[in-house]
This record gives sequence, C-alpha cells and structure tokens, in this order.
Amino acid sequence: MLRPFDPTLPLPPQAAGWDENLRFAYTEVDAFWLTRWTPETGWEPGRLYEHRGATLELSPGANVLYYGQGVFEGMKARRTRAGKIVLFRPRDNARRLRASAARLAMEPPPVDLFMEAVTAVVRANARWVPAPEKGSFYLRPVLIGTEPVLGVRPSQEYLFYVFGCPVGPYMGGDRLIVLSGVHRSAPYGTGAAKAAGNYAACLRPQKIARELGYVDALYLDAREDRYIEELTGANFFAILRDGTLVTPALGSILPGITRDSILTIAREAFGWIAVERKLSIDEVLSDAVEAFYVGTAAVLSPVTVIHYQGADHPIGDGKPGPRARMLRQALDEIQLQERPDPWGWVVEVA
Ligand SMILES: Cc1ncc(COP(=O)(O)O)c(C=O)c1O
Repeated sequence: MLRPFDPTLPLPPQAAGWDENLRFAYTEVDAFWLTRWTPETGWEPGRLYEHRGATLELSPGANVLYYGQGVFEGMKARRTRAGKIVLFRPRDNARRLRASAARLAMEPPPVDLFMEAVTAVVRANARWVPAPEKGSFYLRPVLIGTEPVLGVRPSQEYLFYVFGCPVGPYMGGDRLIVLSGVHRSAPYGTGAAKAAGNYAACLRPQKIARELGYVDALYLDAREDRYIEELTGANFFAILRDGTLVTPALGSILPGITRDSILTIAREAFGWIAVERKLSIDEVLSDAVEAFYVGTAAVLSPVTVIHYQGADHPIGDGKPGPRARMLRQALDEIQLQERPDPWGWVVEVA
C-alpha cells in the first residue's frame, strides 16, 4: 500500500545509535518517490510516499515478473564534514538508466525527472544520511514494466521509483575465484545494462564462491573464457609490473561510474598510464603487482588472491598495494569535497 508522505507531520524518532555499525542492508526510512508512465499520460508528476510499510501493487501478469523488464541504478548521497549532502556524478547514473532501459525496450525516464526524484528522496530523508565516517545513504532508482502481458513483448506501462537506505562502509573481501563453466554475460547480450536478470545469473556463482571462502566470482569472457570481465557488482583493475593501470574494455561489462572516475583520476590527477583493453587472467596472474575492484558499494577494494584452475595465486606480494590506496583516498576526498574536483562530479543537494 502507498500512503502519500506529508512533510508537515512529525517524524517518528530515530532509534538511539541508528548510525552505529550500519550494514549494507535494506531498511525503511521516511519517504520514497514514485511515478508511472502510460502511453496516454507519459510520465506523471512524481511524488513522495511514506517508506515505512510501503508495498507496491502489481498485476500477477506484470511484465517484470517473468519477461524481466527491470533495470535499476545504485548511487550514494554522502554527508561532507562541512555538513553538506552531496551526490557523485548523478547525471551519469540517469544516463546509464536510460541506456539500460533502451536495451530492454523500456520507456526511459528523462534525466531531469531522475534528478528530481533522487534530490527529493535525499532531502526528505536528510536525517538518515550518516556522518562520513559512519557510512552513506545508498539510493536505488528502479524502473519496471508493470503492464500485464502474456505474449513476449515490451510493457506499455512502467513504474519508476527511488528509495534509499543508510549503509555502512563496505567490508569487501580481497579473495576472488574464477569459476569454470559459468559466465555473467555474452558478447552483444545485456551485460552492459544494469538489468535485474544479470544479477540473477550471478547468484549461484556468488553463492559457490562464498561457500569456498572467496568474496565473489571473477567472470571471464564467454567467447574465449580467457579475458577478465568483472565481478557480480564491481569492475576490475590491475596494475602491471611496468606501472600501467589496466581495466577490461567496455562491451559486455557494466560501464561503471567508479571505473570511469578511477581511470580519469589516474590519468589526469596522477599522470599515470591507464588503459582499457583485453586483460587475460594469465596476464594478471603473471604480471600484476596490484589488483582491485571498484563500484559505488565497494568503492575500491584490493584483491590479494585470485583462485584459478585449482590454485590460489597471490597478486604481487599478497598484500593490499600502495597505488590502490592512493586511488581510493583520492576518490574518497573528491567525493567529500576535500580535494579539487575539476570535472564537476560532485553535486550538492542539501
Ligand atoms: C555488474 C556491476 N559492475 C560494476 C559496477 C560498478 O558500477 P558503479 O561504479 O557505477 O557503481 C556495479 C555496481 O554498481 C555492478 O553492478
């Protein structure tokens, strides 16, 4: 059920210590934002609803439930030490949602509507944005096809909504495993879209990886089973012996906003050589001195071990490396307005 959010009513008190030991978990806050699209109305004006106890009503025939028209985004609002609330490259998330929607023949929300939604959610829930050392406010914009359909075809009705939850600093593990006989995506498939189905394909490999003591699977390309693609929810980087920073080229991987930011910081702030190209697992195991994965949730987490073909292989000296740490610190400081942002990435919303 949906109840309109009334900002003039008093809010329920926050539990003492709500921001201690935050995890990466779904929690209800004060308000979330939702709108609909139909061919007759186009995008209706969106509005805020009560988040507590909110449920969506869907037809049992809704397209998303079996033909899988569901795409989403993940982004963070952060509280700076100066007390402002900022977003990081939010228009890039809006554009990526539109690209994901286009791949799945869905109605893409305009960038301005996306910005209105995320800004409204952050402002209405400002009290849930933790202090920078305690975590951040994770935002999840979602687009789903809701028309009841029976034959395979695109929905003619969509819901676009945005909710958010306070989350703690991500505790990423540093051990990855390349599993045989499983791929995340194929050439010309949907790997570059942030489509819900891509994550469904990763759940079993992720479960196996965790049972074996690794934080996640590292996927190889589906054509030759040689070239690194990415993780379930993060992009991969290696630093080679000659100092080159390498990340797999775009194609069937998600074009990560953190990935692009790390490439830009490495090239333009540090003057390093950073390339996007095919990167084989053999090259990483024989020539990498550092490796790490990046994403909105993971930020930047070092990789110290990769399991491949029956053996654990240490990366470099098997410890987190200095250049990964430099990149992580620079990204963090830019996001918190504590380092120059010549690219205009940080957007103040409150
Ligand atoms: C499959 C996948 N790759 C990469 C990323 C990293 O993308 P971004 O840096 O835009 O969060 C994510 C997470 O959002 C992801 O789900």
